Amino acid sequence: MQERTQVAIIGAGPAGLMLGHLLHLAGIDSVVIEARSRSYVENRIRAGVLEHHVVDVLEQIGLGERMRREGLPHEGTQLLFGGVLHRIDFQALVGHSVMVYGQHEVVRDLIAARQATGTPLLFDCTDVSVEGYEGGSPVVRYVHGGQVNTLACDLIAGCDGFHGVCRPSLPSGSWRGFDRVYPFGWLGILAEAPPSSDELVYANHDRGFALLSMRSPTVQRMYLQCAPDEDVEAWSDDRVWSELSLRLACDGIALQTGRIFQKSVTPMRSYVAEPMQCGRLFLAGDAAHIVPPTGAKGMNSAVGDVLLLSRAIERWYGSQDDAGLQGYSAAALRRIWKVQRFSWWMTTLFHRFDGASDFDRRVQLAELDYVVGSRAASAALAENYVGLPLG
Ligand code: FAD
Ligand code: PHB
Repeated sequence: MQERTQVAIIGAGPAGLMLGHLLHLAGIDSVVIEARSRSYVENRIRAGVLEHHVVDVLEQIGLGERMRREGLPHEGTQLLFGGVLHRIDFQALVGHSVMVYGQHEVVRDLIAARQATGTPLLFDCTDVSVEGYEGGSPVVRYVHGGQVNTLACDLIAGCDGFHGVCRPSLPSGSWRGFDRVYPFGWLGILAEAPPSSDELVYANHDRGFALLSMRSPTVQRMYLQCAPDEDVEAWSDDRVWSELSLRLACDGIALQTGRIFQKSVTPMRSYVAEPMQCGRLFLAGDAAHIVPPTGAKGMNSAVGDVLLLSRAIERWYGSQDDAGLQGYSAAALRRIWKVQRFSWWMTTLFHRFDGASDFDRRVQLAELDYVVGSRAASAALAENYVGLPLG
């Protein structure tokens, strides 16, 4: 089958779906091509914290209704070290809050919005490949429902995540990757339990980092620093709860336990591809960069990229002005590197690094003490956490 669209979007994660919706609102056609099934994409548990700009954007594009009803606005967060809780008050320090609302909920809202428009969103595609984007005739080939399809388009948006096909398709020598792999991962759990704290708790402990987060008043999300290749099977429910209670022990938290219904291990990595474009192919979100989740930035950065990209595409179609498209990578990377810095810094501040000396450990605790004791340092953390300007 031969088809044509204006923008071919590869990947139906937050980046691809949000881009498709923004383009639709601007009257620009797109086809979204996704490798997985709808149910897989809608049930994939990942990030949980939305920056205030992302909340505003979702409201502005008509996707705020369920988020407002079911999301949990948080005006601050708790840092735990030396067995004592310290509150960072985002509202008082920088005048903004964040929203706790799961990535899969955002994805469900975006899929529902796309389906309501009747615009193409194809799940279960295989053999996806991109070509012709270095010249003026980009093409996406894919198989859907047993049929081989060729989609001609003006532009390709590579929103296919870290393991997608777009970044590896870039000609060697035209780009470079910047990488940092951390010697640990996170064991994440979802549990049916009441909240143990009203706000998220980031804990620095001699036994390793722990994070208390949530999804709803009845579902809690928690993480423990572990080996990057940790065997989930080695973690019985009892072991998870006893490790969490050790790392989160303090006045102010009474750990609430319950049925654990999901466990997984995520390795930690920082990665940036530069530039994020080649000819008429533009990378956005995890396809171009990933962060360790300590700063809660992964999904937020994906949304930041596609806002920039959609504006550049609108400008190009509207006035044949390609300055926005030409400058997309530079504009996105300016923000991305600041997000990389913050995510690396939060990771370094809170995790136990095997081989760190007693001196290193004292410096880490002194930095935490400085962060909570200095209004300037607390405000810097708050400013980055609630989200730097989208640009
Ligand atoms: P993705 O959400 O990865 O979406 C890419 C889409 O492209 C996927 O649906 C994929 O199936 C599809 N795709 C891949 N290859 C192809 C192909 N060849 N053809 C067509 N489609 C393809 N961030 C946080 O802030 N906090 C967290 O706790 C957190 N936990 C995470 C846990 C895991 C296991 C992972 C992998 C990431 C986590 N992140 C977290 C990061 C955050 O979820 C991502 O930054 C976010 O999903 C990025 O959105 P995206 O749309 O760019 O990419
Ligand atoms: C989550 O709720 O999944 C979550 C929250 C904050 C983070 C990372 C993950 O920094």
